[in-house]
Amino acid sequence: MISPHGGKLVDQVVKGKEREELLNRVSTFPAITLDSWGLSDLVLISTGAFSPLTGFMKQKDYLQVLKDMRLSNGLVWSLPITLTVPKQSIDSLSIGETVSLKGEDGKTYGTLDIEEIYEYSKEAEALFVFKTLDKLHPGVQRTFQKDEVYVAGPVKLLQFPRTFLKGFQTPKKLRERFEELGWKTVAAFQTRNPIHRAHEYIQKTALENVDGLLIHPLVGDTKQGDIPADIRMKSYKVLLDEYYPRDRVLLSTFPAAMRYAGPREAVFHSLVRKNFGCSHFIVGRDHAGVGDYYGTYDAQEIFNQFSRDEIEIEILKFEHAFYCVKCGTMATSKTCPHTDECHIHLSGTKVRKMLKDGMMPPKEFSRPEVIEVLLHEMRKDS
Ligand code: ADX
Repeated sequence: MISPHGGKLVDQVVKGKEREELLNRVSTFPAITLDSWGLSDLVLISTGAFSPLTGFMKQKDYLQVLKDMRLSNGLVWSLPITLTVPKQSIDSLSIGETVSLKGEDGKTYGTLDIEEIYEYSKEAEALFVFKTLDKLHPGVQRTFQKDEVYVAGPVKLLQFPRTFLKGFQTPKKLRERFEELGWKTVAAFQTRNPIHRAHEYIQKTALENVDGLLIHPLVGDTKQGDIPADIRMKSYKVLLDEYYPRDRVLLSTFPAAMRYAGPREAVFHSLVRKNFGCSHFIVGRDHAGVGDYYGTYDAQEIFNQFSRDEIEIEILKFEHAFYCVKCGTMATSKTCPHTDECHIHLSGTKVRKMLKDGMMPPKEFSRPEVIEVLLHEMRKDS
């Protein structure tokens, strides 16, 4: 099986005696409260999904990631993983001490050994990561809403937030599952949307050449307007039951926050799926993009900056896929000779508008079973 990024799967989940002892002491530690994004990072670091990271990034790693897409030890890493605190709170924190990491519900989920506290430039971070300072970009917007200071150091996880247990398998568990299933090659599919026919087409094309397919929907924070994860999960299950071979496909959640960083996020998504034990990663059109900030294939081209040995997981690149009425099948410009008028493709915005208005997008765009679930769930929610 493919090795984790950096060679070793990080495991910072404390168990047994160590956990009991730490739980007894933790109430005396100063506390930092994490939002859902911070909690998600804590879980993903601790379970090894972000291997080789063992904590929130120190300044040297952070700056090198921004400038070169590498950690200070030279390993490829494309996005900062950091924890912010308000400037006024740093007087109560000191380097060398352990703080407890609480959720907004007041429960303690983990600890952080503070090794560094540093300021950063929001402009520089946004420009490097998102390539724009436009505050309409959801990633830029969030960067400017963050607190001003980063606190860095290794973390430990004491308990999983309840919401993460639904459908989440740690990298260790998924690796074991792949072993059990005898899957030597696994293609991972990242998504933050309901699965439409173009998704299905590229997944199944990938599945022709690998042992198994991991459908790994991102279920952490997403921007307003994206379809909520619990509704999407129901639609994935219906689709898998009806149209996918049961013994060759696994559905498991990826509880990360969506950054909308396009190309850089594609690199990050691929390295993380390597940690989950996948040998291949699907990158289609405008992966992790939003609006028109990135070119259609920027998220594929960024991989040309690295050697194959550095990334290791194989990137399966797909052209923009659509249904062609003349071919009578799903296709891409690589396989279809017909013009645009023959192609059925709808933008995410258009589909969301149709759903909001209670309309069914055409069956060539999405399986009706999926739309029925979405309409049903959205009606319940409104
Ligand atoms: S993403 O933000 O998670 O990338 P989305 O859920 O829309 O968004 O896409 C999931 C994956 O499918 C990404 O790799 C994306 O590039 C790919 N993809 C989405 N739509 C198409 C399409 N029409 N043709 C080819 N690839 C696509």
